[in-house]
This record gives sequence, structure tokens and C-alpha cells, in this order.
Amino acid sequence: MTNENRSSFTGKIGFVLAAAGSAVGLGNIWRFPYLAAKYGGGIFLLVYILLAITFGFALMIGEIALGRKTGLSAIGAFSRLNKKYSFIGYLASLSPMIILPYYCVIGGWVTKYLFAFGSGGAKAAAGGDYFGSFISKTSEPVVWFLAFLALTAIVVILGVEKGVEKVSKVMMPVLVILSLAIAIYTMFMPGAMDGVMYYIKPDFSRFSVTTVLAAMGQLFYSMSLAMGIMITYGSYMKKDVNIESSVKNIEIFDTGIAFLAGLMIVPAAYVFNSGNMEAMKAGPSLMFITLPQVFDTMRGGTIIGFAFFLLVFFAALTSSISLMETVVSIFCDKLKLNRKLVCLFVLIGIAVLGLPSCFGFSIWSHIKPLGLDDILTFFDFISNSVLMPIVALLTCIFIGFVIKPKTLIDEVETEGAKFKQKKMFTVIIKYIAPIFILLILISSVFDAFGVFGFKF
Ligand code: PHE
Repeated sequence: MTNENRSSFTGKIGFVLAAAGSAVGLGNIWRFPYLAAKYGGGIFLLVYILLAITFGFALMIGEIALGRKTGLSAIGAFSRLNKKYSFIGYLASLSPMIILPYYCVIGGWVTKYLFAFGSGGAKAAAGGDYFGSFISKTSEPVVWFLAFLALTAIVVILGVEKGVEKVSKVMMPVLVILSLAIAIYTMFMPGAMDGVMYYIKPDFSRFSVTTVLAAMGQLFYSMSLAMGIMITYGSYMKKDVNIESSVKNIEIFDTGIAFLAGLMIVPAAYVFNSGNMEAMKAGPSLMFITLPQVFDTMRGGTIIGFAFFLLVFFAALTSSISLMETVVSIFCDKLKLNRKLVCLFVLIGIAVLGLPSCFGFSIWSHIKPLGLDDILTFFDFISNSVLMPIVALLTCIFIGFVIKPKTLIDEVETEGAKFKQKKMFTVIIKYIAPIFILLILISSVFDAFGVFGFKF
């Protein structure tokens, strides 16, 4: 049932920028730098890049080819190739539905900070309990969450070409320029070079299994894999656009921005904490608590802070657009309803689903699902640490042993395109990736609950 009227990206640049828009998000700017700092700086960077050009590359090609071959989003794509396996599509589709509500809650926080920095509130934002007192309010975070969600919905309602593609084409280049500018600025702060070295120079003595597993988990999240997103975007891709080279471009974008984000954050936090990297490990609070304090100590900090949150805002918005687009496209394919109507239903559904994540820091802060810190962390855990590795594993098995890699290699090679790394693609999808993914799954579940005191 390939939909003849399905809209599509106009060409390679549109596709690459939209997919990169999905990939580059909070994961790159907020999660990558603190993981890099936590897992040994340069060595993490090295492992990450190696994994990106092997695993990330193979999986992303697989998903995009699946989407383009079938012209359908996740559920349809799996069931079209083999009816018995449509459950993988259902599982994959759950992730964006779980992630989108809480992603927009964080998007709301970013929007709040953007406004704060834009309206002379930089000093206040640097106050230690600014963040804590903001998220523990009952209604204010909800308002920012709904505003961010509404913005996302507007772009999705406009459609693939007029909305998603147009917005990405403007935002992504601005994002690159902003990150370059801020990274250069912070690198040249007095004393920052030691931080830069810590970030870039691999210290092989800090290499461990955890480094690899953490890098791998981050890679999947950062490249928006195993959630049906790249399948959906692949379904909007024209046949004459080269999949392999597009994936290379997306990866360069995604890894490049993550690298730059590290360059803007790690050295700055290094200087601010006088070389003590413990604070970096605080992770989540880094962006909303430590960074505003860092900006406060900088000359021109208000402007830098504003530019920084603008960057994060763009990155988060293009990612949430891809999440919503995927959800909308799943329902459109499944229910054959009018797209605008589906958008409206999804908007209402997500608005309701996001409320618990907001309230988890205020009136429902006593609720600790599975013993995790709060409701938002719970959703994040279910999607990223449980569903994502399961779907990635099933996808590899599906491609490797059910439909066979050849089916997708043929798709990549349509219209005479060459698939240069097809051998590597086959070996990774069939053997190497499944084993590694299984390890991630086991480690993340054990890690979260500390079952049997087991830790890598
Ligand atoms: N890849 C995005 C990031 O790095 C996150 C994301 C995950 C976006 C899943 C869409 C879907 O932040």
C-alpha cells in the first residue's frame, strides 16, 4: 500500500538536513559532553567516533533503506516485508510516543531559559536554586511545555516539505555557526586549554567496557535510531538520492555538533570548577545550573548564554519535530485519516501525556516509578535503556536473518548507486551489532537497578 501521494523531501540536501535535524538534539549538546567528561574525555571521543562509522553507519543505512523500500513508516514497513514481524514496528513506534512528551517538557525548560537570557534574567538564572524552584512550580513548567509542543505541532502541520524541510534548512546552518562561534569563544578563555586537552587527548588507561557501552547507548540515542524515525524519514526520500552518502553526511553533522558541544562545555566547566571534573558528572543539572553560572563569570556572558540557549532550542525543536512527524505518520498510515486531523489528535494526546513528567518535579515528586528519581527519568529509562536496545536488536535480526541484508543492499543500490561498504554493513548487522546491543541492554538494566550489586 505504498501511498502514491506521500510527500517527500525535495532532494538530498533537504533530506540530510532534516535527518540531521532529528539527530542533532539535546543528546548532542547536553548528554554527549557530560558523558565524555565522565568516561575519560578523549578516549570516549575516540571510541564514539569508531562506533559511529561502523555501528551507527550500518544501522542508519538499514533503517533508511527499510523506509525508502516500503515507502511506509515503522509499523507498515516491517509488516510489508514480513507480516509476522510487524510487532517490531509496533515496538519501535512506542519509543517516539514515550519520548516526545518528556522531550517537549525539557524543550519547555530550554525555552524558558532562552527567554530568561533574552530578557535580562541571566543573573537570576545563575542563582543556585533558580532551576530547582522553576521546575518545582506546578503551572509554569506546564505553560512552557505546551508552548514548545505547540511550536513543534505548527511545523508538523505544515507538512514534510513546507514544514520539516524548510525549518531544518534554516535552523541547521545557524546551529553550526552558533556552535562554532561559542566553541571558539570558550576555548580561548584563560586556562581553558587544559580543559580542551582533557577533552581531546585520549587517556588509554581510562578505557573500560563501560566506556564502550556508554558510547554505544549515546550513539543510538544521538542518531535517533531504533525508534522508527529514520524509517519514516527514509520513506520520504526520493529514489535518486544516494542513501550511503546521505548517511555519511548525517553522521558528520551529528558527531561534529556533539564534538563542538563538548568543546564549548567541557573547557568552560573545567575552568569554572578549577580543573575538578567531578561537577561535570552531575550530568543533567549541568546545562541548567552549572552553565548559567559559567556564563555569569564570562565577559559578554548574557549574549553567549542567549546564543547558547538559542542553539539548544533549535536543536531540540528539530528533534521534537522528527518525533512528532513520526507519530503522526504512523497514525496516518494506519488509520488513513486526514493528516491535519491526526496532527490535532496527536497534539492533544502528547499534551496530556507530558503532564506527569512536569508534575513529577512538583505535586507528584513523591512518585518514584521503579525507584527512579522522577517520572521524566522513568520515561527516559523505559525508552532509551529498555525499548531502544530491544528494537535495535530485533531490527538487526530482522534485516540480517529474515529479509536478508541483500534486500536492503539492493535498495541502496537503486538507480545504479554504488554501496561501497556493503560487506561491512552485512557483517555488522548480522553478527557484531546484535552481540553488542545485547550487552548494552543487560548492562543498562543492571546498572539502573544495581541488581545483585552488579556493575560494569
Ligand atoms: N537524537 C536526538 C538527540 O540527540 C534525540 C532524539 C531521540 C530525537 C529520539 C528524536 C528521537 O537529542
